[in-house]
Amino acid sequence: MLVKYKKCCDKQSEGFERHMELNHLIDFNEMALSDWESLCTTISDIIQNPVRYADACKGKVLATPFFEPSTRTIFSFQAAALRLGAAYIGFSDPYNSSVAKGETLKDTIRTIANYVDAIAMRHPLEGAAKAASLFSAVPVINAGDGGHMHPTQTLADLTTLRRRFGKIENINIGFCGDLKNGRTVHSLIKAMTRFPGNRFYLISTPELRVPEYIRQTMRSTGHAFTELFTLEECMDKLDVLYMTRIQKERFASEEEYRTQAGVYVLTADKMRIARSDMIVMHPLPKVDEITEEVDEDPRCVYFEQAENGMYARMGLLYHLMYHKKERPPVVRSNVEELRCRNPKCISNHERYLPQRFKRPAINPAELVCEYCDTPARL
Ligand code: NCD
Repeated sequence: MLVKYKKCCDKQSEGFERHMELNHLIDFNEMALSDWESLCTTISDIIQNPVRYADACKGKVLATPFFEPSTRTIFSFQAAALRLGAAYIGFSDPYNSSVAKGETLKDTIRTIANYVDAIAMRHPLEGAAKAASLFSAVPVINAGDGGHMHPTQTLADLTTLRRRFGKIENINIGFCGDLKNGRTVHSLIKAMTRFPGNRFYLISTPELRVPEYIRQTMRSTGHAFTELFTLEECMDKLDVLYMTRIQKERFASEEEYRTQAGVYVLTADKMRIARSDMIVMHPLPKVDEITEEVDEDPRCVYFEQAENGMYARMGLLYHLMYHKKERPPVVRSNVEELRCRNPKCISNHERYLPQRFKRPAINPAELVCEYCDTPARL
């Protein structure tokens, strides 16, 4: 019996189970649910037998070009690579790279793809990872593109939900804080609309509500959501409270930021209203939105969530780093005389990029930018 079990696990470590259709991870919702299931199996196996994976990606190299600061995400990608026996190269300060000399994203990515087996990148502009994937011969992983998406944080979050609840269905989840600029919020809500029965409580000021395309996603997938101004209104109904910081760096001015800072603080008093089995999640870093006292409450699982993020990234790299290197076909614009109207979209900064628009399956009546999901004004 023992031998059989070992054989089955060895089989996974030897790479026979590396089934994944996905070429790049830009948005969790582009991943087939069958891929997600394979990934879950791998992540669970890694959590149970981390040592068995120590050489699973030996000889492979990951690039971590981070054009925007990060601690957790870059470290967890690098630790994930090392724990699989892979190496990594990268930067977390674009001023130390050729970008400072004026190099285009396209040239940077084409060059890096020659040296590595996968690229995990972060960029301040929305749609940057999608743009990079058009020119990369190796898988591109979106480690955060401006205020848009953060699919590997979503993998960390979904892994935490699965470990805690055994499922990602019928969960009452409250999101609180900067729902406008928080890419982890957008990614997770979008991902959770793929599973039935989840109900969303969105707690923010009117200025920091979730973007319209996220509301549209909840509506068109038939998921109930309520927008609220105070935590107290829904605290006792929640299975999960997902706190976020106010994203200072995405505000136009310090004054504008100050009008929003400190509005939501999770205190011990508010935790008393919550259920004893509710959990508090946070993508981190946190600033002042959770008091020190609440930090010690056993219902807070954010450091566990960060650990899950590393296992989830290991699972992802395990599958993606074995893809065959292939120069991507040339992609051309699919519209005439239409530009994305989002000033933070990569297509308005790297002007050689083809203008690409799509009709989302959940709402085919609309035309949205393929890079940043902003609806076109026709
Ligand atoms: C988040 C991010 O970068 O979007 N952090 C992370 O990756 N864990 C959240 C944040 O910066 O507020």
